[in-house]
Amino acid sequence: MDRYTLAATCHFGLEAVLKREIFDLGYDITHVEDGRVEFAGDEEAVTRANFSLRTAERVLIKAAEFEAGSFDELFEGVKEVAWENFIPKNGRFWVSKASSVRSDLFAPSAIQSIVKKAMVDELSGVYGIKSFPEDGEEYPFRVFILKNKVTIGLDTTGVSPHKRGYRLMQGEAPIAENLAAALIMLTPWREGRILVDPFAGSGTIPIEAAMLAANIAPGMNRDFNAKRWDNIVSPRLWKDCEEEARELIKSGLDSDIQAYDIDGELLKVARENAARAGVDKYIHFQTRDVKDLSHAKKYGFIITNPPYGERLEEKKRLPELYRSFGTALKRLDSWSVYVISSYEDTEKYLGMRAAKKRKIYNGMIRTDYYQFPGPKPPKRLN
Ligand SMILES: C[S@@+](CC[C@H](N)C(=O)[O-])C[C@H]1O[C@@H](n2cnc3c(N)ncnc32)[C@H](O)[C@@H]1O
Repeated sequence: MDRYTLAATCHFGLEAVLKREIFDLGYDITHVEDGRVEFAGDEEAVTRANFSLRTAERVLIKAAEFEAGSFDELFEGVKEVAWENFIPKNGRFWVSKASSVRSDLFAPSAIQSIVKKAMVDELSGVYGIKSFPEDGEEYPFRVFILKNKVTIGLDTTGVSPHKRGYRLMQGEAPIAENLAAALIMLTPWREGRILVDPFAGSGTIPIEAAMLAANIAPGMNRDFNAKRWDNIVSPRLWKDCEEEARELIKSGLDSDIQAYDIDGELLKVARENAARAGVDKYIHFQTRDVKDLSHAKKYGFIITNPPYGERLEEKKRLPELYRSFGTALKRLDSWSVYVISSYEDTEKYLGMRAAKKRKIYNGMIRTDYYQFPGPKPPKRLN
């Protein structure tokens, strides 16, 4: 029975990829908006979505939706909701994040405190207490207000939004795991095809590719808020979900995944991360300057996240770096190349025009995903 509307959040620009993942899990999409895909599901869907969605940031249970253009309306709207369906008498609950776009209410801290006050008011009536012990499990809520439409979601995922648990250490500008997964899923790369990341850093893109190929669920090594909510999700469902995910892991992959970087120390970190994710055996790590990029095979994929030039010093070096990357790519002229960067002169210095560019927001940074698909390899005659 579909008891809930669930909302999975993602980077702006990746809604279509997340939508496909949810659909492939077997759930009906009910609504899509910037950075959020909603679908119908029961408590089992809470476990499966958290465990399996590679491109989602977090999964929320939609608890309320109403219009509010003033704090009074916000208070009254929140009070209408039966919060006892989510929060037990001793639950610790608060609004962990409030955001507002093109709406009359915009001060996040005021929105957070009014929502909490109204929740307390409603729960006081139901539980017959004035002050709450709040010494039980944690129930964080998120509030989004878009054009005066308030949506309140219970965060089933928890503190580390997209974290898989394998990346304890990282370089200076690591890409989020769920973004890396989405970049791979936007290409035709799959197990059995060659993948090279010449700017691998802490290894996120190669690790996500190997996890995808081995069908290792992204939620395998991590914790979720909702694991402790036996008032909402039965602990048996988490166990079943984990067991099912374990059974689906493939072994003995036919993989050729290469992680290169100029920084050998960082590659050590990448290898440790890969080991924690259970995929180090599928990735070959090598210290290599991008100018020496080469591969013996005629066809393959490059999916990469070169330096963007966040720091001024680095920005000055970008023309030369992108030029030498472009020169190296001439040696791989039948490969398919995918580059995410916020550097506006990416195409100019690579010396290549992208067949397609996709706008993706990496937090507040606008990036483009440049796609240079190569020719299709001829079908093997056998
Ligand atoms: C934006 S970071 C990549 C982050 C990576 N995706 C991750 O998740 O950690 C860019 C990487 O390019 C590497 N790099 C810079 N110049 C390079 C060069 N000439 N050849 C190869 N790698 C280089 C840096 O060491 C850095 O790790």
